[in-house]
Amino acid sequence: QTIYLKDYTPFGFTVESVELTFRLAPHATRVLSKIRFAPNPEATDRTFFLHGEDLRLISARIDGREVNPELSDRGLTCAVPERAFTWEAEVEIDPANNTALEGLYMSSGMYCTQCEAEGFRKITFYPDRPDVMSVFTVRIEGDLPVMLSNGNKAGQGAGWAEWHDPWPKPAYLFALVAGDLVNHPDSFTTGSGRAVELNIWVRPGDLHKCAFGMEALKRSMTWDEEVYGREYDLDIFNIVAVDDFNMGAMENNGLNIFNSSAVLASPETATDANFERIEAIIAHEYFHNWTGNRITCRDWFQLCLKEGLTVFRDAQFTSDVRSAPVKRIGDVMDLRGRQFPEDNGPLSHPVRPESFQEINNFYTATVYEKGAEVIGMLKRLVGEEAYYKAVELYFERHDGDAATIEDWLKVFEDTTGRDLGQFKRWYSQSGTPRLTVEEAWEPGETGAEGVPASRPPSRDLAAEQGASDDSKGSQGAPDQVRGAAREQASGGAAPTGGGTYTLTFRQETRPTPGQEEKLPQVIPIAVGLLGPNGAEVRPTEVLEMTQAEQSFRFTGLATKPVPSILRDFSAPVVLDRSLTSTENAFLLAHDTDPFNRWEAGRNLARATLLDMATGDARPDGDYLDGLTAVLRDRGLDPALRAQMLALPTQSEIAQMQHDRGQTPDPEAIYTAHETLKLRMAEHLQDLLPVLYAENQIEAPYRPDADQASKRDLSTAVLGLLSRIDGGAQAAQQYARADNMTLQLSALAGLLIAGKGEAELEAFQQQWKDDRLVMDKWFGLQVSHAAPARAAEVAERLTRHPDFTLTNPNRFRAVLGALGMNHAGFHHGSGKGYALVADKLIALDAKNPQTTARMCALFQTWRRYDASRQAHARAALERIAATPGLSRDTTEMVTRMLAGA
Ligand code: ARG
Ligand code: ZN
Repeated sequence: QTIYLKDYTPFGFTVESVELTFRLAPHATRVLSKIRFAPNPEATDRTFFLHGEDLRLISARIDGREVNPELSDRGLTCAVPERAFTWEAEVEIDPANNTALEGLYMSSGMYCTQCEAEGFRKITFYPDRPDVMSVFTVRIEGDLPVMLSNGNKAGQGAGWAEWHDPWPKPAYLFALVAGDLVNHPDSFTTGSGRAVELNIWVRPGDLHKCAFGMEALKRSMTWDEEVYGREYDLDIFNIVAVDDFNMGAMENNGLNIFNSSAVLASPETATDANFERIEAIIAHEYFHNWTGNRITCRDWFQLCLKEGLTVFRDAQFTSDVRSAPVKRIGDVMDLRGRQFPEDNGPLSHPVRPESFQEINNFYTATVYEKGAEVIGMLKRLVGEEAYYKAVELYFERHDGDAATIEDWLKVFEDTTGRDLGQFKRWYSQSGTPRLTVEEAWEPGETGAEGVPASRPPSRDLAAEQGASDDSKGSQGAPDQVRGAAREQASGGAAPTGGGTYTLTFRQETRPTPGQEEKLPQVIPIAVGLLGPNGAEVRPTEVLEMTQAEQSFRFTGLATKPVPSILRDFSAPVVLDRSLTSTENAFLLAHDTDPFNRWEAGRNLARATLLDMATGDARPDGDYLDGLTAVLRDRGLDPALRAQMLALPTQSEIAQMQHDRGQTPDPEAIYTAHETLKLRMAEHLQDLLPVLYAENQIEAPYRPDADQASKRDLSTAVLGLLSRIDGGAQAAQQYARADNMTLQLSALAGLLIAGKGEAELEAFQQQWKDDRLVMDKWFGLQVSHAAPARAAEVAERLTRHPDFTLTNPNRFRAVLGALGMNHAGFHHGSGKGYALVADKLIALDAKNPQTTARMCALFQTWRRYDASRQAHARAALERIAATPGLSRDTTEMVTRMLAGA
């Protein structure tokens, strides 16, 4: 059954208050609800339908009188009075058998909930939709020492606790936790003087892993006050760590529930990357309090309203507290690695989807990460000041609302006077726009300074067309008008030369499922110009492209410049521009924009990997020399140098070949990757030990950006060194490592060198009681397995006594790692596909949500040759044919097989 955005209608009733009582018992929890309903004046349909799934109805009453509702497996309907009334129901649920981890379930002996998106209907009968908001009062009865729910404490005694959340909220933000928990307490005073009690609740053995999360929470609270003027609004903020959790974390009002991997960290057990991710997720969930909770979504099609914005906000936070360029580059790598394949394959959907069968399948990189990119473009187009003014208006106008993307865009239109009609296509059009660019240089003649440049004679008709579109486009693009005018003026007033440089862009978005025709989108293209000596002759300017083809002119230039295009990755597009390796090497050496400097190195690496994957055994000398120079530059942040050293993923190379109409060969790409790394190690062999030594840290471990930056570089260096020193340095590092970052990178180095058997065993002995560390142990072996062995290694690990289908982290550690082992998963034997299919089929019966998410590993299956496609198709069809397959997985597999 498909649900459509266009079919939205409000619910026939409003909910004035909700009172819930939980009588906890592992297999027979009773949930008593008392809900005050009133006819909704904004609705016409008065059908009283309450969602409800996997509930045993014990009794139902309206205004105290027993009623007999009509039950289906999706919920109930009942005749109700034509005035306000009180609905009371008692249901029984079985949290201990709830392996779907949705609704109320048990994890390591504790009760916990996950209600987003549609889990509340597994707790009691309710209009489980985000536009139905109410004030909740919750009583929990049980013999557990800690019993928590949303909002403020309302009372507690022997065997009970009561909570009251004064802020009206949709049911998806409901939460309950009960268990034998201990807390890491702290406090925070908001700008206006509210004293807030802060707690991180964990199982007793995890108390030493809370300190960092707590600091991150306080930093987030301060940051949101300083940057967005948003203060926390309850007396208490609780975070709970849960081992079995489908996603990263959940922003329930006053009671955030986290996957333990997203909050627990100590230097001994967590890597620098873990610390940074935890900081970002804590910030993300905290920021939801305003962007998500105080202002929520009208319906689930608007998911990006809260997620895109909140991802954007957490990225701003990370850029502020750590390194902005490093964060930006990391995010773009992630976008290209996860969102681009999605946007350009069978699972492609708009940032605001228009239909779905199972909303859990749309918590995607497109909704989240592309959604955040769209906010970033909006901010770039309207400017810093207007952005914060518009967001302020959004809070003012919509606090307490269940809002839409239209509401969001309207505050920007009202603040700036811009028409965002075309910009809105970013929300409705799926697929990644591809941008090509042509340059034209017209040297100035003596005395010609200041004279408006004429078109270059060589332009073809299409380009002329585009050029005339230029003026039309500029009308809708005030920044560009200003920019262009400034260029013209500066060309006349203070001529440094009479040359005119023209960039002509073309944009094209290929058809995606359900969308054959694509219209031009607004693309902010940040451009700077460098002179031939490497100095910047024009600082960054944002060109606002609105047409399918459009030219932008820079006048008054003395010599032909070298452009730096799409600085800071100013739009989520593919910039299809083939530069010579000399041009890339020039930008790698001189670009003042850190992102584009990195991108130039990336371009060189891509080109050389593509060549090597199709038979050329020798890496590009310009690449190796450029890299050497960058690595030697001690003025450059070590983390940035580490990012320069990282190669484009094998999957990215496969995607590039596919885009060019070639069929990628995963084995050949793997070999190219391995060979290039070896050649890099050889080329850099004198420098590597120096860099390694320079980036060792004497001081005690701190998870901050400064230390992490050095460890990033030493880790990247160790990876290369291990290819030429037989693992000697890695063995030494393993022996002395006193933190997980160094221990794990040493173990990885040993595996790279074909060693590490003993260390793997020792690691297991050392960490067998720490689930999160053991996830790393499982994952590392799969990601470092050679292509022909990866499926076998993963299969063996699924038979390890500590492997389990019920813990999503463990499942992802093994099968997710196999999916990310490009040449292993896509191995010609089909063993990778078959194993993943086997395990997904087994998991689906227990946990549809995680199964469906993991199915996406297959999304690129049509890139490969006929034999691989046949194997992948067989695996997908086998999943599809599983009796009783969940709605979640059915939708995913069907989409991936569509058109086949
Ligand atoms: N809103 C959560 C977050 O982004 C994600 C929860 C998603 N849960 C789900 N079952 N789809 O922070
Ligand atoms: Zn979120």
